[in-house]
Amino acid sequence: MARLTIDGSAIEVADGTSLFDACRLARGESLPHFCYHPDLSIAGVCRLCQVEVEGMPKLTIACNTTVREGMVVHTRSERVRKASQQILEMHLINHPVDCPICDQAGECGLQNQYMAYGLYDSQVAESDKVNKAKALVIGPHVVLDKERCVLCSRCVRFCNEVTKTGELGIFNRGDRAEIGVAPGRELDNAYSVNTVDICPVGALTSRDFRFQKRVWMLKSTDSICPGCATGCNVRVDHEAGRIYRLKPRRNPAVNGSWMCDEGRLTYKDVHAEDRLLEPLWNGRVVSWADARGHLAHVVAGGFALVIGSAHQSLEEMWLLRQLAGTAALSGGLAGSDLAVGDDILRSADRTPNRRGLALAGLAEHDAAALAGLVRAARGAILVHGGDPAAAPDVAAAMAGRQDVVYVGTHRRATAAAAALALPGAMWAEKAGIFVNRQDRLQAFAQAVARPGNAREDWRVLGEMLPDQGRAPTGLKALRAGVAADLAPALAPTIDLDRLPQGGVPAGGDA
Ligand code: SF4
Ligand code: SF4
Ligand code: FES
Repeated sequence: MARLTIDGSAIEVADGTSLFDACRLARGESLPHFCYHPDLSIAGVCRLCQVEVEGMPKLTIACNTTVREGMVVHTRSERVRKASQQILEMHLINHPVDCPICDQAGECGLQNQYMAYGLYDSQVAESDKVNKAKALVIGPHVVLDKERCVLCSRCVRFCNEVTKTGELGIFNRGDRAEIGVAPGRELDNAYSVNTVDICPVGALTSRDFRFQKRVWMLKSTDSICPGCATGCNVRVDHEAGRIYRLKPRRNPAVNGSWMCDEGRLTYKDVHAEDRLLEPLWNGRVVSWADARGHLAHVVAGGFALVIGSAHQSLEEMWLLRQLAGTAALSGGLAGSDLAVGDDILRSADRTPNRRGLALAGLAEHDAAALAGLVRAARGAILVHGGDPAAAPDVAAAMAGRQDVVYVGTHRRATAAAAALALPGAMWAEKAGIFVNRQDRLQAFAQAVARPGNAREDWRVLGEMLPDQGRAPTGLKALRAGVAADLAPALAPTIDLDRLPQGGVPAGGDA
């Protein structure tokens, strides 16, 4: 351990800790910075994180300095403040200051640092600024404005160190230095929009989000990406019931600071045109009251087969198992939603909760076996989520039946095959738990209101329980039931109603 003093406070940190991290601990906030990033190598190029270390003649950058026993450090002295101001002025010499039309305004490192440390009158006339290319489309998802770049090299390091695709570089020298794409290339890797996230200014912007919304109008809700079994921690940015973007939340145990471009666009399905918004009886819109009447008629003899899906929450899967009772039970279509994975984040399993199925005791079946279960069902069939009828075998087995009930979110094959289709909620419209491929339980919260007459799935399923005395009265009660029933597989320390930020392994922390 090393003991040092930062801004008059004694602090003890592990040997090898960077002075940048020690200062964050001591100050309760980071030093000003552009180039430092916790999940990239140290570049030490922006010079914004300078601090004063007693005994050293010059200021030193904290991100590239390791703590030493007995160091006495000043981060808020007049000398440091003056240096920060001068560095900012240098970064702003050729900056266009086009904040009013910049997507980054409101969450811009340059704006924030200027308000905190700058506040000087510019000495550079508008006409003397070096002009560079603006609004260059450099890949399927990213637009580059070279004038706004502060040459922090984060995006270059990301492409060199994380995706190892090396599309970006800094070209030329002095005030002509500029960020750019290597000749003949474009920024086209599966993680390209992370460069937008880590760009501290508005030099890199997302083609999907560009000019859609001023960021200060957005509300943020913590969630989990539903795009694959990795379960990247994300933030859902939304306003007035509409989701505008997903951003990664840092979780070193799961996704570091990153997420993939495909996962980033999963929110589009929430607002898809084919959302199931009202109950449908044989394709005709009916009220929930009428739907309940049809349901009572269809399931008068109870369900003979219950089919779940790896897209639903752990709580819903468990409830489905209670609902099945002695009926045949399936976790849905085995081998569905498989695609190409990689060794960065993307799992070949494009469902968020296949491990949850296993934990809740639901086994999947291949299309032929599932079709066999459908044919063998001598009573009503309940399908919850997924789209098993997208498999031709299953669709053929369901054809002509008047006793298939579907609780789902889109008017796709299974909704069309069902006599009664009931609108449920998508992941962003409800709270729940996914179990990722590491068997990590991660909670997601409701971000936006459910559209139309869609309802939370656990309420819809709860109303179908033959013994209404066992119907959950709320998510908390439902989770208590899940915890009690799955107790052998879940560490006793886990409180499903209060999972920690970043989730927890099902077996508990080692
Ligand atoms: S484009 Fe952004 S991330 Fe890349 S070097 Fe410039 S300021 Fe840094
Ligand atoms: S890797 Fe998977 S969980 Fe992560 S963002 Fe992509 S699709 Fe979502
Ligand atoms: S953050 Fe230390 S030099 Fe940029």
